[in-house]
Amino acid sequence: MNHKDFISIRDFSPSEIQYLLILARQVKSHPTTYCDALKRKTLAMIFEKPSLRTRVSFDVGIQQMGGFSIYLSPAEINLGKRESVYDVAKNLERMVQGIMVRTFAHEIVEEMARNASIPVINGLTDFCHPCQAMADYLTMWEIKGNLEGLKVAFVGDGDNVAHALMFAGAQVGAHVWVASPRGYEPVEAAVKWSVERGRETGGTCHITNDPAEAVASADVVYTDVWASMGQEAEAEKRDKDFRGYQVNAALFHKAKRDAIFMHCLPAHRGKEVTDEVIDSPQSVVFQQAENRLHAQKAIMLELMKGEFVKLPGLVELQELVHV
Ligand code: CP
Ligand code: NVA
Repeated sequence: MNHKDFISIRDFSPSEIQYLLILARQVKSHPTTYCDALKRKTLAMIFEKPSLRTRVSFDVGIQQMGGFSIYLSPAEINLGKRESVYDVAKNLERMVQGIMVRTFAHEIVEEMARNASIPVINGLTDFCHPCQAMADYLTMWEIKGNLEGLKVAFVGDGDNVAHALMFAGAQVGAHVWVASPRGYEPVEAAVKWSVERGRETGGTCHITNDPAEAVASADVVYTDVWASMGQEAEAEKRDKDFRGYQVNAALFHKAKRDAIFMHCLPAHRGKEVTDEVIDSPQSVVFQQAENRLHAQKAIMLELMKGEFVKLPGLVELQELVHV
């Protein structure tokens, strides 16, 4: 694989996404094999928004491979205000071996990647959350045994998580349905890209305003908060606009009997999802959260390993992981 950065699922080929997923499975089942793979390497983590899972999983992930992370809070860096993105990139490339960025505008992560000579990983932007999608499809694969042909229904805001779910779904040949209220649908360019990539892989992407249509016979039912980080001022209006888009037992039961419930977390219980659904045996939200760790270890390994660490190729990995 010849990529410096991990910015969007769209930047990769279907076989590269498959490779990263299978590497994640291998890393998960044989963590000690990789315990020195990033020895003494440092990841700078720039957060302009809060985080639990992203921060902990990147920190623990790099430590498990022999490296370190440095947490840089919004107040410390103040990207683009205290210092330009360019200058931050040029400083960090002299001291660390990788940068993870969680920020608002997607263009900031792209600018960081363009200007830094070291790998840059997108830890969530307003546009997409690619690390989340890798953990999501890893989870679906573990539970369902395959990804091709799965019906994945996302109910709620056509947000960063929905976009990444669509992109990765198109890469793995899944059928992704997004049901959002009018005015909250995924952006058109994201839908267009997903439909086109799906033509190569057998995947499809459908947008509707009807949650029941999206969830009907789905293998996976997914939701996310109605107001994302940065949209707090709109929360009250959104609560009204998203009425009817709650994943409750009545909606969930329209899916297949063995459907799973997914949520990137944090969840606003009683809003986008009821306790009954998120706490049900069909909810896999904590396996999904754990898989952030394994999926991101695979991404860091691939991008930050350096010339002395040799990773197995796709065929070799398929044999190791028995798929
Ligand atoms: N799902 C996710 O990215 O969680 P955090 O915002 O806690 O990192
Ligand atoms: N859409 C949410 C995802 C959080 C992981 C947000 O951006 O706040």
